[in-house]
Amino acid sequence: MRQALVAANWKMNGTKAQVAELLAGFKAGINAQACQVAIFSPAVFLSDVQQALQGSAIAWGGQNVHSAESGAYTGETSLGMLKEFGCQYVLVGHSERRTLFGESDEVVAEKVAAALSAGVTPMLCIGETLEERESGVTAEVCRRQLKAVLDKVGVAGFNKLVVAYEPVWAIGTGKTASPEQAQEVHADLRAFLQDADAEMAKKIQILYGGSVKAASAAELFAMPDIDGGLVGGASLQIEEFVGICNAAAQ
Ligand code: 13P
Repeated sequence: MRQALVAANWKMNGTKAQVAELLAGFKAGINAQACQVAIFSPAVFLSDVQQALQGSAIAWGGQNVHSAESGAYTGETSLGMLKEFGCQYVLVGHSERRTLFGESDEVVAEKVAAALSAGVTPMLCIGETLEERESGVTAEVCRRQLKAVLDKVGVAGFNKLVVAYEPVWAIGTGKTASPEQAQEVHADLRAFLQDADAEMAKKIQILYGGSVKAASAAELFAMPDIDGGLVGGASLQIEEFVGICNAAAQ
């Protein structure tokens, strides 16, 4: 039985005061025994997040990482740095990283491999654009994105990571994929992984992301292959995010 996981991706939002307020609200409102919860904060707030969440059942992580251990990579963050701030997770290959910052499948695979070697759980984000969906290549694109990482880290790596399917057209647009649309892709991804290893495919958590709200979460999470959500905008509102976690706990 797969446990539900709900993750907050704050993206480039927030102030120290907002971070403190959000985390206090999450700690008070979320039953983190009933579902797994992870907060992806901007790197500069990780120390605040660590102080606030340490000792709670809520985990946290960085939104991006460099695959090198250290060196001349101005502006980047290493896995060692994330670990020093208690990060259990790291987001890798978010569509904003892929489209706005040019991260290729290969770069994403490198980052996943580095995170796994460092003992940090990668949350591997994949998903098709609207154009790709409309040309009928959704499954092909998502499978290609998974395969690039599978080729690099193998089944052993996939035993230790989380996948987040985020259709690009549903991110920040208010257009959630319907539970059936999302389920169709999740089932296809699990079928693809099953060809590599049936046990791993059964065990791996595949989250849905893209305009998830408290009102839409329960229906999405009721789908057999959707194991939780990766939440952007709604994770910046206490009531919304708590509501989404409650939906996952059901
Ligand atoms: P929204 O929930 O704002 O659509 O963002 C989804 C997302 O990109 C989470 O990583």
